[in-house]
Amino acid sequence: MRRLIFVLTGALVLILSGCTKYQIPAPECPTDLPTDVSFAGDVQPIFNANCIVCHSGGQAPDLSEGWAYDELIDGGYVDTDFPCESELYQVFSGTHSGRATDDEVLTILGWIDEGAKDN
Ligand code: HEC
Repeated sequence: MRRLIFVLTGALVLILSGCTKYQIPAPECPTDLPTDVSFAGDVQPIFNANCIVCHSGGQAPDLSEGWAYDELIDGGYVDTDFPCESELYQVFSGTHSGRATDDEVLTILGWIDEGAKDN
């Protein structure tokens, strides 16, 4: 009986570990993020350099100076509980890949991770 339980447990472990193999891996969420990110000092300049050509009125969100913060928060583009779920982050792995450097994207993610403050 003991042996049967042993074998069955073993089989169960094998079956369960087999399942995890076929799970679709979630895209990795970077953990080594910049800290003390300032919206005005670090994030807005990224928008000014890379985004406002298109996002300054016609195309939502409006990322021009003085508007960007409210647009992003009120528009629900940032998720401070799950920063990598933020639309502002996810566009970079979709239609906007290459529109900002990896470092710039991490700066934006770091800002969200620290609570998306108006600092
Ligand atoms: C060449 C023009 C262009 C540039 C530059 C650009 N965008 Fe966009 N953006 C668009 C267009 C067009 C859309 C809508 C279609 C899409 O998702 O690509 C969009 C969509 C978005 C969305 C999703 C909006 C929604 O409501 O679904 C976000 C967030 C965004 N852009 C952020 C940025 C940021 C941040 C930058 C700068 C790093 C940037 N964009 C640079 C043209 C641009």
